[in-house]
Amino acid sequence: MYSERIGRLKSSVIREILKTTSKPGVISFAGGLPSPDLFPVKEIANAAQNALLKFGPSALQYSVTEGIPELREKIAGILDPDSKYIRPQNILITHGSQQGLDLISKLFIDKGTVVFTETPTYLGALQPFRFFQAEIEPIRCDEEGICIDGLKIKIRDLRPELLYLMPNFQNPTGATLSMERRLELVELVKERNLFVIEDDPYGDLVFDGERLPSLLRFGGTENFIYLSTFSKTIAPGFRVAYVAASEEIIGNLAIIKQGTDLHTNTFGQYVISEYLSSDNYSNQIKLIRETYKYRRDCMLSAMKRYFPEPVKWNCPSGGMFLWVQLPEGTDAQKILLQCLDRNVAFVPGQEFFPDGSGKNTVRLNFSNAVPENIEEGIKRIGEVLKDFII
Ligand SMILES: Cc1ncc(COP(=O)(O)O)c(C=O)c1O
Repeated sequence: MYSERIGRLKSSVIREILKTTSKPGVISFAGGLPSPDLFPVKEIANAAQNALLKFGPSALQYSVTEGIPELREKIAGILDPDSKYIRPQNILITHGSQQGLDLISKLFIDKGTVVFTETPTYLGALQPFRFFQAEIEPIRCDEEGICIDGLKIKIRDLRPELLYLMPNFQNPTGATLSMERRLELVELVKERNLFVIEDDPYGDLVFDGERLPSLLRFGGTENFIYLSTFSKTIAPGFRVAYVAASEEIIGNLAIIKQGTDLHTNTFGQYVISEYLSSDNYSNQIKLIRETYKYRRDCMLSAMKRYFPEPVKWNCPSGGMFLWVQLPEGTDAQKILLQCLDRNVAFVPGQEFFPDGSGKNTVRLNFSNAVPENIEEGIKRIGEVLKDFII
């Protein structure tokens, strides 16, 4: 009755369990949600009004598949102010980066296409890759991002078509690809001529130091397909995001998108475009960086006080997530069940490993809880950990 590929869709036990975290009173570090108290409601109301005054009915009409010219131009200007490697015709506006991942999968993946991913990696990318029947090959990562030596060997042996990675504050670990590795990776990719999907929803959320240049900037559109989104900086409800790639790839993605949804919602695009016309955006990014950095520090400080000695964690220099390593042999799913009894939630890290390993890891989101709840939630998790580990 259903298509063959539907059989590859897996519902996750953890996702079902985590549905309970939306109950009132639960402190959740589980989702990847931006903080709603930072949504720029007033500025968006102004931008919406300006969009209607300026563009009238066209702001509500069907529009072109690639995206409205005003917004494509602004995004090209943000990515490459000197127009050296990105122009508006290199941009496709999508309904969230999630749609970008789906369209790219439709363009590149046949049954058996080899796709390399970091391990652990973003679950939402694994979904379309699996749906289109890719062979997913996880590549080892450490605190500096994907390990180039391991990648070199696997590229030689398995000849992948695609490499998917998140160079900045990746989901789930928060790790960032070091500058040295960026340069090595670009060289390797050029030599082996494969396509890289550079997924960068968190790049603007940098707390410590400077944002590193994108792989796209070093490598150009011949091999690199860059995705980013306004979900983490303005508001995810807009579902406005973009792909930056060669004109040929953008043309092909646009044909696929046409058959999917014709175009990204016109009004949302005009509102975002108006919002970007003032200094709203830079102020908003500054506010988010300050707030999330503070929340990250609150979480780190609480973990230091409440987590038992053998538990280890990292200190990401941006983004929305912390990564925790429990002692070998500890099952984070069992700990989650106990934590849910105490009304606190997280995601067990195993979810993010394509090969099902990582049982003793945990992802904690620090962007969506206020400092008092961070303190209380970490305290409760610490109590459960002490029962299990000591
Ligand atoms: C790595 C990564 N890529 C893509 C997305 C999807 O973002 P969007 O809201 O633009 O669809 C997310 C959302 O959490 C993400 O973490």
